[in-house]
Formats: sequence, structure tokens, C-alpha cells
Amino acid sequence: MTINSVGVVGAGQMGNGIAHVMALAGYNVVLNDISEDALKRAIDLIERNLDRQVSREKITQDDRDQAMARIVTSKDLPEVAKTDLVIEAATEEETVKQKIFDALLPHLADNTILTSNTSSISITRLASRTDRPEKFMGFHFMNPVPVMQLVELIRGIATDKETYQTCLGVVEKLGKTAASAEDFPAFIVNRILMPMINEAVYTLYEGVGNVNSIDQSMKLGANHPMGPLELADFIGLDTCLAIMNVLHDGLADTKYRPCPLLTKYVEAGWLGRKTQRGFYDYRGDTPVPTR
Ligand code: CAA
Repeated sequence: MTINSVGVVGAGQMGNGIAHVMALAGYNVVLNDISEDALKRAIDLIERNLDRQVSREKITQDDRDQAMARIVTSKDLPEVAKTDLVIEAATEEETVKQKIFDALLPHLADNTILTSNTSSISITRLASRTDRPEKFMGFHFMNPVPVMQLVELIRGIATDKETYQTCLGVVEKLGKTAASAEDFPAFIVNRILMPMINEAVYTLYEGVGNVNSIDQSMKLGANHPMGPLELADFIGLDTCLAIMNVLHDGLADTKYRPCPLLTKYVEAGWLGRKTQRGFYDYRGDTPVPTR
């Protein structure tokens, strides 16, 4: 199947990055969100990120202008449903995703491929509640989407070969690399990454190190580009907690128990960069550790 247009549901940190790379690769994009403000913010951010790529000579001004011209925004889900490939990139909550799929289904063409950018929720279960489990799969980008090379492709139990091959072709057209993951909780990247982040929070909780010493240890001692607590703030502490809960519930092993300190930060609404406070406080000129 040929994909010409892509619908992206959710204009947050992942959705705007997905719209950015899809438009740059030549796809016509319909970017959707329930809030007009979120759509406006997403377009501004895409423009800024494209400009950054122009200034670093990764793309030309013409590439940038053409990409922007390929993106339309819409608050109406039926507009998104007209595209060939839909990528749901809303909040990491199953009920929210379910509502979006329910609202999309009556408007989809028969051959539209439906995907989710979920970082942990069962693809098979999401697919089973749609009218097209064979045309449903996981299409999981990494943050920041324009920079990170990997896309995880996750087949549900019913996903057919053509759907997988079509999505693989899209990843290749983006110039990214696909990793095929089986549909088990949190797939590959987050199955490995989140327990590491959770362990960093335990290390902080137990007083083995402070925010600075933990992040510095992993940056300088393991050559990670960001420390685990800095990375947790970057991903969003609510997302990290949601993924740990999926691992804990789905694999029923106490080694995935979310750290109580992570829960406490989320309860405080200190969700990381997006709320300007998490393991670091971002309200000043430079981030200041909160512990
Ligand atoms: N759009 C476009 N370009 C961007 C960008 C964006 N949003 N953010 C950064 N860049 C570009 C910069 O322009 C720069 O390009 P050049 O190499 O051409 O100069 C490059 O990326 C590096 O950026 P910076 O110099 O500003 O900063 P940096 O060197 O500190 O790198 C980083 C920033 C790429 C984010 C790096 O710190 C990093 O790789 N961090 C780890 C990110 C990571 O692990 N992501 C995965 C999270 S897990 C996930 O996403 C899955 C999930 O489900 C939760």
C-alpha cells in the first residue's frame, strides 16, 4: 500500500516531532489536538526545530518551507481519518487512546492503517477493540523525534504482513532505522531504559547519591548523553511512572516496582521539563537540582 498522507493525533512533545519528520520526508500531514492552543504551540515548535536544522545545514530553507506547507492542523478527528496512516500520539493513558480510536473508527477508509505511538500499552489489546486488528500496529518514536534514529515497530498478534511492510517502508523513507519488537509490556527500549531510570530514582531515594552525583556518574562513567534523572525530566515523570506501572502490572515482578519518590514527584505535579520542575528546577537560567 502507498502512503501519501499521515494523520497525527496529539500535538504534544511526540506528536509535533512526528509531524515534523513526516512533513520533511514528503508526507502530507494532518496534525490534530483537542486544544487550539496546543496546535499553535506545536506549529511554533516545529518551525523553530526546522529553523535549527536549517542553521546547522542539515536541511535547506526550501526543505523547511515545503515541510511547513505540508502540515495542516485540525481539531476534527474526521479530518485525520481521511489520511492513509494514522499515528495516535496522545497521553499515555489507555482510556484516552481508546476514546480516540472509538471516535476515529466510523470515519476511516477501509485500507487506512491505524497505529499508536504508545511506549508501553499492549498493541494487541488496543487493536482488538478496533474494526481492523490486522491493520493496526505500534509505531513508536523516540524523543526528540527529529534527532533520534530509532523507531520501534510492534506487531500485535493479528497484524498482517502488508501493514508491517508498509510501516517499515515509511520508517525507511524517514531515513530512520526500525527495530521490530514483540508485543510485550514496554517493548524493547522502555523495558530496558525505564528500570534504569527507576533504579536511579531509588538510588536518590535511598541517599546513595544526590541528583548531581547520580547524573554525573552515568554521563561520565557510562558515556550516556544525559544522566538518568535529567532524561526522566526530559521524557516526563508521569510517562516514566505510567510505563513502570505497565511493566509492574504486565509482568507481575516486584523488580518493576515504581520508586515511591517517583510517585511523589508525580503527585506534586513536578513532571519534569514540561512543568518546569522535576528532579531539576528549570525556572531559572540554569537547571537547579531539587534534591
Ligand atoms: N529538533 C531538531 N533538532 C534537534 C532537536 C529537535 N527537537 N533537539 C536537538 N536537536 C539537534 C541539535 O540541533 C543538534 O544538531 P547537530 O548535531 O547538527 O548540532 C543535535 O540535535 C544535538 O543537540 P544539542 O547540541 O542542542 O544538545 P545535545 O548535544 O545535548 O543533544 C540530545 C541533545 C540529542 C537530546 C542528547 O542529549 C540525547 O541524545 N539525549 C538522550 C535522548 C534519549 O535518550 N532519548 C530517548 C528517550 S526514551 C524515549 O523517547 C522513548 C519513550 O517512549 C519514553
